[in-house]
Amino acid sequence: MINKIGVIGGGNIGGVVVSEIVSRGLARNVGLVDVKPPEFAKGKCLDIAEATPVMGRDVNIEGSKTYEVIEGADFIINTAGVPRAVRPDGTFPSREELLSINLKITDQVAAGIKKYAPDAFVISIANPLDAIVYRLFKKLKFKPNKIMGMAGVLDSARYKYFVARAANVSVENVEAVVLGGHGDTMVPIRSACRVYGLPVEQFVSKTQLAKIEDRTRKAGGEVVGLLGSGSAFVSPAVSALEMVEAIAFDKRKIVPVAACLQGEYGVKDLFVGVPAILGKNGVEEIIKIKLTPEERAAFKNSINAVKKTCAAVDKAK
Ligand code: APR
Repeated sequence: MINKIGVIGGGNIGGVVVSEIVSRGLARNVGLVDVKPPEFAKGKCLDIAEATPVMGRDVNIEGSKTYEVIEGADFIINTAGVPRAVRPDGTFPSREELLSINLKITDQVAAGIKKYAPDAFVISIANPLDAIVYRLFKKLKFKPNKIMGMAGVLDSARYKYFVARAANVSVENVEAVVLGGHGDTMVPIRSACRVYGLPVEQFVSKTQLAKIEDRTRKAGGEVVGLLGSGSAFVSPAVSALEMVEAIAFDKRKIVPVAACLQGEYGVKDLFVGVPAILGKNGVEEIIKIKLTPEERAAFKNSINAVKKTCAAVDKAK
């Protein structure tokens, strides 16, 4: 069992993260920080704490407006940031359009982690994902294996779900991976998609797969459009916990992670979604996948999009 998980931001995603930690009995202590007045984090935690007798879990859950509540955490899950939401005209922003507002929040987050949880593994969910985790990395100066972004688990889960529905088989039969940035340029890797270990094309037509891959790239926006306010929150929360469990239980599980590349895939010091082994040291190894020429070109395009957003981060004070 983990001693302590610190959760930053207790809104839609943070709330599910905390309640899932409790229902899984994943940690002995949870500290939730959220700056929202009057005492939003305290209220959120009290609500979940009062459910623990029903859930049969003994977890200490503490909420606060200030960061000392995450002191000594082994893991930090960062969800602090404004989500995408539908505008009055029915459109909604891209994740990248959240950058300037979420960067300011991220700098406060980084200061809090640095002061109170300098040895934690950091898993960041806030958007634009690749740029926010890059900013945290620059501010925290943590080793690259200890800080990562959660995107690929979610994007791949969406791809798997759509394929399972189209093939009319269990979601457990589908293996799929989405690489690259967590934006519209993300790359579902059809050549690595399997149903019961068999090529996906045996179950789903190429035309249908093209539609599924397009839907996968836009899946976050689809949820935003349907919800009307805010963005997906259950799926990102449980995806981040899959990463926590892989590290905490030293599973050496291969999952798609926004990892800080050190020359792999020709990229250095940028966070890009790639398959990685997660174990007791965090990101232990980046796995190389053989891509088709089309997938390679799409992946390069996605890396360029991440580079562009991170260049904007570098320019921001
Ligand atoms: N420190 C701590 N918490 C903060 C800070 C801060 N400096 N700034 C904002 N928050 C809190 C807000 O008060 C809010 O309660 O972060 C919470 C975010 O919750 P929601 O608005 O419900 O957003 P959510 O859907 O959880 O998404 C959070 O993850 O997927 C991304 O795009 C999404 O960037 C967004 C983030």
